[in-house]
Amino acid sequence: MKTIFSGIQPSGTLTLGNYLGALKHFTQLQEDHDCFFCIVDEHAITVPQDRLKLRNNIRSLAALYLASGIDPEKSTLFIQSEVAAHTQLGWMLQSISYMGELERMTQFKDKSNKETAISSGLLTYPTLMAADILLYNTDIVPVGEDQKQHLELTRNLAQRFNNKYNDIFTVPEVSIPKVGARIMSLQDPTKKMSKSDSNEKGFISMLDEPKKIEKKIKSAVTDSEGKVKYDKENKPGVSNLLTIYSICSGESIDVLEEKYEGKGYGVFKQDVANAVIHLLEPIQNKYYALIDSEDLDNILDRGADKAGMTANRTVAKAKKAMGLGRVKKKKK
Ligand code: TYM
Repeated sequence: MKTIFSGIQPSGTLTLGNYLGALKHFTQLQEDHDCFFCIVDEHAITVPQDRLKLRNNIRSLAALYLASGIDPEKSTLFIQSEVAAHTQLGWMLQSISYMGELERMTQFKDKSNKETAISSGLLTYPTLMAADILLYNTDIVPVGEDQKQHLELTRNLAQRFNNKYNDIFTVPEVSIPKVGARIMSLQDPTKKMSKSDSNEKGFISMLDEPKKIEKKIKSAVTDSEGKVKYDKENKPGVSNLLTIYSICSGESIDVLEEKYEGKGYGVFKQDVANAVIHLLEPIQNKYYALIDSEDLDNILDRGADKAGMTANRTVAKAKKAMGLGRVKKKKK
């Protein structure tokens, strides 16, 4: 059975982009794979965080994973900072990574442009991400398109370590969905939808109430042509809504284009909103039932124990390969 690993940052309530690009696929993969899903809180602190908000976001993300269909009987769900092996292997991989390759990461460039004081953690972020993945002998990493470059670096680091020391890491493959790998902002459809967008109208949060979802979709930026047609270059706003609608409804984009021929954007947007509401409502109901339950804590405790067992074994192998620790004298 192949092993899957993926992670999400608890840096705000998840967006529809996170769900359609990643989370939705996680729930399908757990049916026939050995899956590890992580709340990567140590990644979140590479930019400033309010500690109370961060702690709430961690719990909220755990509840959202479960509400979206992650089944703790099938998948291991855990918090990164509760498994110490992540930072241990992260440090080892940091020691074999080069400044140049880290400085080339587009996410580092984007994020460091926004911050006034750039933490060194922001630069070395991808080495921790590589550790997350390599600890579990991961075969496949399902992610949205924005993580592709980080996965390429992970593969390079795994191969570099294997060649330099000992062949201990599985070199993982990336899996990016054909549709929905990059859901765009509703206000600027040339930018990806992001939970850290300062303009709240640009993203749909997975916990937005139906009225809010409707309002945001109705005010989504489109164009003046009035034609529901997929054309990413010239009609990025309409194309983004078509992508969202297609995944939420299960209908192909061709069928949807036909359905809205001769109809304006008003009817189209209302139907997109209804489809998104229909998708999110059951998830939201489950979320509110879970958020304050003890079950959630038990699941996360078990998850950390289980993840820790695999992760510690890998760290022990990596330490030995690198020459860390000491030679123990045999008892006389
Ligand atoms: P994060 O928390 O930004 O996003 C979580 C997942 O959601 C995907 N995603 C999107 N997909 C489609 N459209 C969008 N607008 C959109 N925005 C986000 C992301 O591609 C991702 O799959 N570095 C990672 C977290 C991480 C990780 C890992 C992932 C840490 N360690 C190990 C995989 C494996 C991140 O910041 O994702």
